[in-house]
Amino acid sequence: MLDNLSTAVLLVDTGLKITYANHAAQSLLEQSLNQLQEAYILQFLMHPNLDSTRFRQTIQGGEIFSVSEVQVILADGRHLLADITATGFEPKERGTQRSLLLEIRQVDQQKRISQESQQWAQQQAARDLVRGLAHEIKNPLGGIRGAAQLLEKELPAQELHEFTKVIIEQSDRLRNLVDRLLGPNSPPNFQLHNVHKVLEKIRTLVSLDLSHNITIIRDYDPSIPDMRLDQDMIQQAVLNIVRNSVQALTALNQQEGVIQIITRIERQMTIHGRRYPLCAQIKIVDNGPGIPEQIRDTLFYPMVTSKQGGTGLGLSIAQTLIDHHGGKIEVDSWPGHTEFTLYLPIDKKDKHS
Ligand SMILES: Nc1ncnc2c1ncn2[C@@H]1O[C@H](COP(=O)(O)OP(=O)(O)OP(=O)(O)O)[C@@H](O)[C@H]1O
Ligand SMILES: [Mg+2]
Repeated sequence: MLDNLSTAVLLVDTGLKITYANHAAQSLLEQSLNQLQEAYILQFLMHPNLDSTRFRQTIQGGEIFSVSEVQVILADGRHLLADITATGFEPKERGTQRSLLLEIRQVDQQKRISQESQQWAQQQAARDLVRGLAHEIKNPLGGIRGAAQLLEKELPAQELHEFTKVIIEQSDRLRNLVDRLLGPNSPPNFQLHNVHKVLEKIRTLVSLDLSHNITIIRDYDPSIPDMRLDQDMIQQAVLNIVRNSVQALTALNQQEGVIQIITRIERQMTIHGRRYPLCAQIKIVDNGPGIPEQIRDTLFYPMVTSKQGGTGLGLSIAQTLIDHHGGKIEVDSWPGHTEFTLYLPIDKKDKHS
């Protein structure tokens, strides 16, 4: 009967081993019943609120719990997003041990898109707020600096210049920060460019000061046509992402670090509600520690950082720059794997020119 359900259902014993999987579960996990039987359930599911203790308690107590947005790990390493419900129960036949009934519902594409646009709106609101604030700080800052300069000229004693120097230096420091918060202030200068030329520049730039345990691998799709971009903006955006990978791998130290830069053509992409027949996809993948759980939801907000001395502006700026191109950035990350994907629409016109 369970095999007729469209919801994926698994039965798990007290040792947390799978004892049964219905057809829907087999197709969701892309494995046969034979392969799944006796497999440890937690090797397929990842979420901070899911662990063996929680499952065992549910089996014993016979309660129900639900967790949304669990990462479901497939055999080939890909991850899916799913909501799960776990129910502990005692089978009717005597002699059979208590079990856990697990329902897994993949979060569908539509929900993902609406979450995506909601997140995007929130990020934009946060960015506007910070930008507004930065703007308000910038104006008086100029005045303070100017006044300190004038004062310096009027001050008779040389030793008092120390103080005006501090004011000027600190104003300059703040001014730098505020300028970064405000982001690029000139409108984009769109020209036809080969996206791989831009990527190669970044690779050269980053390779210059790479510690030797990090390798950069390229995997380009040469069929991507020249496209209308602001070269500096795209370079800055991708550089911010690649730099984060380098920093994450450098912090890791012992392991062999690999950064992959992959490009592909993507057809029929929806970006912020608009459908594009043709997009360039740029993927930056690293095998670092993964993005810390606690900042995953706010990753693109300005000033969100896990680094000492980090300003948390790199990704926020990257997103602004990609927005200028009508594109979007997606992230997928788990321990040992972080993947940023950029989508840039390719104008049909560009293809023929
Ligand atoms: N490839 C990655 N691997 C692991 N964590 C990452 C990766 N990329 C980004 N992060 C996390 O995202 C946070 C925000 O990144 P972002 O580039 O916006 O700021 P930052 O790098 O901390 O500071 P800044 O770029 O302004 O110097 C980082 O602090 C880091 O915790
Ligand atoms: Mg950064």
